Amino acid sequence: MKKYILTPLLFFLFTVSHSFAAEKPLAVYLTWQSHPESTMTVHWISSADCPIDDIFYHDSEMQMWDVEQASHKTLPEGRDDLLIHKAELQNLSPDTVYYFRVAEDETVYKFRTMPAQMTRPVRFIAGGDMYHDSVEILDKMNRTAASFDPMFALAGGDLAYAADKFGEKPEDFERWLTFLRSWQNNMITTDGRMVPIIPVASNEDTKGRYNQPPSQAPFFYALFAMPGKQGYNVLDFGSYLSIFLLDSGHTHPVYGDQTSWLNKTLKERKHRLHKIALYHVPAFPSVRDPEKPVSKMIRKYWVPLFEKYNLAVAFENHDHAYKRSRLIRDGKVDSSGVLYMGDGGYGVTEPRKPVDPAERWYLAETAQKTNFVVGTLFPTGERHFQAADQDGNIFDEFIHRFSAALPLHSSHLK
Ligand SMILES: [Fe+2]
Repeated sequence: MKKYILTPLLFFLFTVSHSFAAEKPLAVYLTWQSHPESTMTVHWISSADCPIDDIFYHDSEMQMWDVEQASHKTLPEGRDDLLIHKAELQNLSPDTVYYFRVAEDETVYKFRTMPAQMTRPVRFIAGGDMYHDSVEILDKMNRTAASFDPMFALAGGDLAYAADKFGEKPEDFERWLTFLRSWQNNMITTDGRMVPIIPVASNEDTKGRYNQPPSQAPFFYALFAMPGKQGYNVLDFGSYLSIFLLDSGHTHPVYGDQTSWLNKTLKERKHRLHKIALYHVPAFPSVRDPEKPVSKMIRKYWVPLFEKYNLAVAFENHDHAYKRSRLIRDGKVDSSGVLYMGDGGYGVTEPRKPVDPAERWYLAETAQKTNFVVGTLFPTGERHFQAADQDGNIFDEFIHRFSAALPLHSSHLK
């Protein structure tokens, strides 16, 4: 703790200036825009009275603070009383713990960069349909998910349920703030790390729900640097993992530019050891009718690409239940096929009743449970998926062995 010896006048000046500047941010959270092994994007929300963009950080060995400058903007929807700050810390060491603090607030937070090479298993969690009910269940799910010590969290849309169905009313920012504060306070691993959030677009976070311009999801785009203006993107972790973040027709059409981009981007990464997709509306739903237009479109435009380039798993959401598909290729069960998991029951206290797997050829397992998935990726190419309930009990488990369709190559282990 620093000690100050001050004259009364200096003490008065210090108190006045410090009480102005030492505002505690309304929310602090992490995401990535690129290279999770060497960068971290830190966001924080402050009042417009606190435009200070300093971010201080050091690794666990070096106790001198480095300082970087964030940038900031006012929030959309008339919330120009608040600022969203963004700082991408770059040139970080891989697989390293860092400490940071923002502006003049003395609270110190902690994160860990990803490994540059896959020399050990990597664990993450995946879930969607998050702030559906009370903040108590959201807090509990975040605490339970964090207790598995994930390196990151895939957030499959319907995060805040803040957007109006008809697109007429402004978004309810208080819901976004509650969501982000719950994340900040509860998505903390057992060793005190904040868990970066990797989000995708969705109906409940888009005013008008489907076929809208990005301007109809103002807070989703303002609050998360990762999707940027593009709205769909890929995050490459070294040379061992790529995560494809897709928009299931909310602010970008499934077909056309997004499908062309997906084809090109998957092709460029066809030899990548682990490839994962994340999007909101399921191609292979466990509750809703699979003949609904968006599910059909995803099966028509994206699924053939997933199969062609040997995607490991697609995390789907939106149906408020749990499902694990069979391995699917060419519209039938195939041991070299793609796995689809989800189905969006993270913050849903009364999940919907899913279809019995015996009634749909593509389903292997379903459950009417509040849930998230714990994924572990191994250097051998093996993948381990567990479904957990709100108390962390594992109720389904699947080991995805390395597909014969994608032979192990030594370059994968670089
Ligand atoms: Fe949804």
